[in-house]
Amino acid sequence: MALSRRGFLAALAIAPAMGATGLPKITVTKDPSCGCCTGWTEHVRAAGFSTEVVETNELNRAKVRLGVPAHLYACHTAEVDGYVIEGHVPAPTIRRLVAERPNAKGLAVRGMPVGSPGMEVAGAEPETYDVIAFGPEGESRFARYRGAEPM
Ligand code: CU
Ligand code: CU
Repeated sequence: MALSRRGFLAALAIAPAMGATGLPKITVTKDPSCGCCTGWTEHVRAAGFSTEVVETNELNRAKVRLGVPAHLYACHTAEVDGYVIEGHVPAPTIRRLVAERPNAKGLAVRGMPVGSPGMEVAGAEPETYDVIAFGPEGESRFARYRGAEPM
């Protein structure tokens, strides 16, 4: 079955923003000395997202510019397909975000829960934590995990 000319041109227009897997690029802004941020970046790359890393010593500027609520601050702040990702949000939930495209500014995992992607600590009990959607409709729970496992 042939693609229509319009469909073909639309596919060409979308292609540059997508990686080989069809997932959009994640741009991660992090402090140069943050190791768990690098762990999280490797986690989303392994899940099929392409990544770009921006290092800065003034991370809070990015959080303020992107409108992350202060009580949801974590370590790194990332951007994907028009959304903001704050902290150690697991990749399956980012896939769901870009597929469902809710009316939100972004997702956040506040702080740095033990056992979240990039925050694995050998021998430590994984913490239970929420992935919070924030934006024009306020804040709500988008997902809940225990370590790397969805609940
Ligand atoms: Cu971290
Ligand atoms: Cu981080």
